[in-house]
Amino acid sequence: MKAAHAIDDDSYRAAMGRLLALYTQVDGIIMEACAARIASAPDLEAKLALAKQTGDESRHVQIQHGWMREFGTDPAPVITSEQEARIRAHFRELPWLEFLADLYLCVEALGSEAVEQVVPLADPGTRESLRIPLGDELDHVAFGVTRLKAELQRLDPETRAAFLARLPARIDALATTLHELVPGVEALFARVGADYADLCATLSQRREDLLQEVA
Ligand SMILES: [Fe+2]
Ligand SMILES: [Fe+2]
Repeated sequence: MKAAHAIDDDSYRAAMGRLLALYTQVDGIIMEACAARIASAPDLEAKLALAKQTGDESRHVQIQHGWMREFGTDPAPVITSEQEARIRAHFRELPWLEFLADLYLCVEALGSEAVEQVVPLADPGTRESLRIPLGDELDHVAFGVTRLKAELQRLDPETRAAFLARLPARIDALATTLHELVPGVEALFARVGADYADLCATLSQRREDLLQEVA
């Protein structure tokens, strides 16, 4: 494994700053998507999980903003407000099962897996700023995966099989859309020292594991 970076490396700092800004922005979008879903969630357990997650994501945004200030990197958004609005609209319009699949399998599980890959390469301050957020993301993914699996088991076998058959393409389509929102994201990962091919292989393995878990 490569050594962690020192923060006096300007190219590293600028690239890590953009990745942190992106992660923070995505957390803000998730916070709003969860808050917007509380009222229509199917039962109390789901409402409580979404409300807790709304609070968790709020804390992540606050921690990351504080760290970006200290780190001295640009906190400006990486994705535009129009793109943000489109993602928010996407989550607002989804039926509950599709919401679980898109938010938890794709954004939360694969997104935080990508962040996890960067942690060993990061400077100590950045690593510390990610500690609480990444711990909470494990809870969010656990809720989403468990809940999706339980919901699927309640469906009649045919509907369930049809949902599962569509699921890989569903995850891939959203992952591609999100990836295309950030041109040059490969270069940012490369500049913080991540091997992009390794990262893709890790994400692809995680995607397989998630699909097996819910099936
Ligand atoms: Fe988060
Ligand atoms: Fe999360």
